[in-house]
Amino acid sequence: MSANFFETILTCLQEKNVEAKLTQLQDIQESWLSGLFSLSTTDEIQKIPNPGRPVQPILTAPKLLPKRKLGSKEGHAALMHSIAHIEFNAINLALDALYRFQEMPYAFYDDWLGVAVEESYHFQLIREHLCSLGYDYGSFSAHNGLWVTTYETAHDPLVRMALVPRTLEARGLDVTPPMIKKLQAIGDKRGVEILKILLHDEIGHVAVGSRWFNYLCEQQSKSPVRTFQETVDKYFHGNLRGPFNYEARIEAGFSTAEIEWLRSIEQGITY
Ligand SMILES: [Fe+2]
Repeated sequence: MSANFFETILTCLQEKNVEAKLTQLQDIQESWLSGLFSLSTTDEIQKIPNPGRPVQPILTAPKLLPKRKLGSKEGHAALMHSIAHIEFNAINLALDALYRFQEMPYAFYDDWLGVAVEESYHFQLIREHLCSLGYDYGSFSAHNGLWVTTYETAHDPLVRMALVPRTLEARGLDVTPPMIKKLQAIGDKRGVEILKILLHDEIGHVAVGSRWFNYLCEQQSKSPVRTFQETVDKYFHGNLRGPFNYEARIEAGFSTAEIEWLRSIEQGITY
C-alpha cells in the first residue's frame, strides 16, 4: 500500500529536529517524483498552533528583539540568523499548505513541495554561512509572526495564498535588495551571493502564491484585485507599506491593477 501524502507531510511538519525534518523532506521529494504517494484525504485536518521547530531559537515578541548594528560581528550574525529563521519557517509554511488544503489539483502539491524543498536549501545555505561567522541557528532569539498569520489563515486556501506568499513572503522581495547593499558595504561576498539566490527563488515562490490565488478567485468568480485588497485589509497585522519592489512583484504575478494599488499605498493615497 502506498504511503499517504498528507499524513507523511504532517509528520514532517511536526518534526522538531532540524536535521530529521530536512532528511524527511528530501525523502518525500524522492517518493513524490517516483509517484509513490496516495493523495486520499485524511479523516480530519488538525489545527497546528505550533509546528515542529527546535527548542532554540527562543521565540519572543518582535519589539523585544534587541537591535544590533550590522557593523559588529554579532550584528552581522544576528541578521543572518533572522534570515535563517525566516527560511526555516518558510519550510513549515509550505508543508502546512500541502497538508491542509487537500482538495486542490495535483499541480498545487507539485508547486508547494518544490517551494518546501527550495526553502530547505535556502535554510541550509544561510545556516552554513551563519556557522562560518561562529554562530548557529538558535544562537539568537526570534519572533513568530510568520506562523501567527499562517495559523490565522488555515481555514481557506484563498486567504492563505493572499496573505502568506503574496503579502508576507512578497515583503522579502522588497527588503532583500537593500539588505544585499548593506552586505556589500561590509564586504560579505558570500552573504551577497546567497541573498541573490534567495531573491531569485523567492520570486518563484510568490509566483506560486499568485498562480493559486488567481486560480481560486476564478473558481469562485471573484475579482482578484478586490479580493486581494479585502483579504489584506481583514487579515494583515499592521499596514502594508512600501517601498515595493515592483519589478520583482510583476515577475511574481502581481497584476497591473494590483501594482497600481501598491503604488497608491506607497504614495500615501488612501484607497
Ligand atoms: Fe526562501
